[in-house]
Amino acid sequence: MKNRRTVLVTGGCGFIGTNFIHLLLDKYSDWRVINLDKLTYAGNLKNLQSLPDGDNYRFIKGDICDEATVQTIFSDEKIDTVVHFAAESHVDRSITGPAAFIQTNIVGTFTLLEAARKFWIGESSQVERPCFLHVSTDEVYGSLGKTGYFKETTPFDPSSPYSASKASSDHLANAYFHTYGLPVRITNCSNNYGPYQFPEKLIPLIFNNSMRGRKLPVYGDGKNVRDWLYVKDHCEAIVEVVKKGDNGHCYNIGGNNEKQNIDVVTLVCDILDKKIGLPKSGEPRRSLITFVEDRLGHDRRYAIDATKIKKYLGWEPRVNFEQGIEKTVDWYLANQEWVAGIVDGSYKEYYKQMYAE
Ligand code: NAD
Ligand code: DAU
Repeated sequence: MKNRRTVLVTGGCGFIGTNFIHLLLDKYSDWRVINLDKLTYAGNLKNLQSLPDGDNYRFIKGDICDEATVQTIFSDEKIDTVVHFAAESHVDRSITGPAAFIQTNIVGTFTLLEAARKFWIGESSQVERPCFLHVSTDEVYGSLGKTGYFKETTPFDPSSPYSASKASSDHLANAYFHTYGLPVRITNCSNNYGPYQFPEKLIPLIFNNSMRGRKLPVYGDGKNVRDWLYVKDHCEAIVEVVKKGDNGHCYNIGGNNEKQNIDVVTLVCDILDKKIGLPKSGEPRRSLITFVEDRLGHDRRYAIDATKIKKYLGWEPRVNFEQGIEKTVDWYLANQEWVAGIVDGSYKEYYKQMYAE
């Protein structure tokens, strides 16, 4: 097909990558997808089991830090677009074990940028409209007080090893635009929620614990604020940035849904009580809420000003938090086996069955 893109999606077996690949293959027939994923604890190939390798989709198990693997993919598949999700993504894990974050988030991004430079820049390049989209986070901007919003011009001030590693990769990506003219675009988005999120993150963790009658840990006083973005809205925004964005630009993506953590946790409990009734104890699920020691360096408030992407690319979120959280709880209720497979570790068996190691 003429004008078809061949997009390297890194980390396509994670939460956002999975939603992104499903969106592309459902809606955009002019995108061919190569999914490179190391299948760390966060990668679940089962998420994409409905997509066998074929003309428009191929899965490759591999590490973005592995120069030979990455360069072979660029050369064999004639990659013209990169959407780079692969990362260590959980703040708590970065506090207890930062090394993997430095490796994947910084060295891995560097390895991809170098491959893109090698294959896209210079006279011998035959790629017509290359685009390297680096997916990053609002956490690079640090923490807000009671007022104000993160803009694309807000100075970086990361607090955790995770956000420092992402800030570092953003700087590298920008430097490759300024120095080599690599066609880089960066997106910095707020907290995603929706289907396929690993149950270490707040919303699926609360779902899983409350379904099992376990305590619901809320860090500190529970009044930290996050700006919740429905994952499918985020994925649509990424498509717009690839199609219409400008090289060398960064776009903030947010949900316009600021919520205190305690309100999010209480709402998930109440929705579950309403949808499936009270648990055997007869107590509402919110009675399981337990305030625990705060996260080290816990950022107080995130809030995104997404004016730029609305003004220049016409994107804005479609799903508000009340709609999105209902859809999300419904998805987890309908996919309890998916959560159980992660909790008992059996989700890793699928890869072994499909591709005997
Ligand atoms: P995730 O942890 O659910 O998935 C990460 C994926 O990357 C997994 O499939 C994992 O196997 C893969 N991976 C990890 N290391 C790899 C390596 N070295 N080589 C190849 N693959 C590797 O993450 P997510 O929540 O889907 O986040 C995706 C991206 O979006 C990340 O870059 C993250 O920083 C960013 N982001 C996430 C959020 C959010 O709320 N989830 C918000 C803002 C930005
Ligand atoms: O803002 C974007 C970021 O959002 C992404 O860059 C990260 O990859 C993603 O993990 C997410 O980071 P957070 O740290 O905000 O997400 P998490 O789900 O871990 O926590 C959300 C809030 O809930 C945060 O204030 C910490 C709190 N929390 C979290 C957990 C896991 C609790 O109170 N209890 C918990 O058990």
